[in-house]
Amino acid sequence: MSDLHSMIDRSRLPSHIAIIMDGNGRWARERGQDRVFGHYEGVVSVREIVDACGELGVQYLTLYAFSAENWNRPKAEVDALMELLVNTIRKEVDDLKKNNVKLHVIGDFASLPQICQQEMTEAMEITSMNTGLNLVLALSYSSRFELLQAARKIAEKVAAGALKPEDITEDDFQAGLDTHGFPDPELMIRTSGENRISNFLLYQLAYAELYFTPVHWPDFRKQNLYDALLDYQRRERRFGKTSEQIQKNIVPNV
Ligand code: IPE
Ligand code: IPE
Ligand code: MG
Repeated sequence: MSDLHSMIDRSRLPSHIAIIMDGNGRWARERGQDRVFGHYEGVVSVREIVDACGELGVQYLTLYAFSAENWNRPKAEVDALMELLVNTIRKEVDDLKKNNVKLHVIGDFASLPQICQQEMTEAMEITSMNTGLNLVLALSYSSRFELLQAARKIAEKVAAGALKPEDITEDDFQAGLDTHGFPDPELMIRTSGENRISNFLLYQLAYAELYFTPVHWPDFRKQNLYDALLDYQRRERRFGKTSEQIQKNIVPNV
C-alpha cells in the first residue's frame, strides 16, 4: 500500500473540512444489525478523523451529526442518537482537552434535549482555551433555518435604524450565521454514495470542492480522509478565473 499520508502537501491543506457523515444505517443493515449499531461504529470513525485532522494541522472540521430533518426519524432512533451524543461527549471530553481540540456547536441548540445542551455547554467550556483543531458539530442543523435567522438579525438592525438596507455587506450578513468567524470550508466530503447537500452549509459551501465517496461512514477512516485530501490537492481552484491566470499566480514572473 502506498503511503498516502506522506503524499499530502501540508502547505496546501484545506483550513476547513466539512463532512456529511452518511451511511450508518446501511452499514448496519448490510451486517444484519439494527441501524443504531451503525451509529455506534460511526463514533469510531469520528474519533479517527478528528485525530487525523488534529495531527495534520487542519484548523476546522465541521461534522454534520444530526440535521433538523432527522427529528422526523423513528423516536427510538432519535433517542438513541441523542444518548450516544451525550455519552460520547462525556467520554471524549478529557481527550479533546488533552489533544488541544476546541469544541463548537452550530444548529438549533435550544431544540436539543436539556441533558444534551448541558453536556455540550460543559464540553465547550472545558475546551474553550484550546488552540488546535476547531471541531464544529452541526446538531439539529438546517442551513435554511440558519439563513433565515441571519436575515432576521439584519432586519432587526434595519428596523432599529442601526443599518441601512443599501449598506448591508456580506460581512454584515455572515455575522448572523452560526459559523461566524470560521473560514468557509474548502473541502466538503459526503460518504455513502449520496450526491446531495441535504440542507448543509448552503451559504458557506459556495466555493467548496465537493468529494463524494461510496464508502459508508463507519468504514471511513484515516486512509479515506488522506484519499480525499489528495484528490482535493489535485484540483485547480479557479474562482472564476482562467487556468492560465491561476498558473501565473502560482509561478510569479513567468
Ligand atoms: C448518517 O447515517 C447519520 C445520521 C443521519 C444521524 P444514516 O443514519 O443517514 O444512514 P443511512 O443513510 O440510512 O444509511
Ligand atoms: C444528512 O444525512 C444529515 C447527517 C449526516 C447528519 P441524511 O441521511 O439524514 O440525509 P438525507 O435526508 O438522506 O438527504
Ligand atoms: Mg442517510
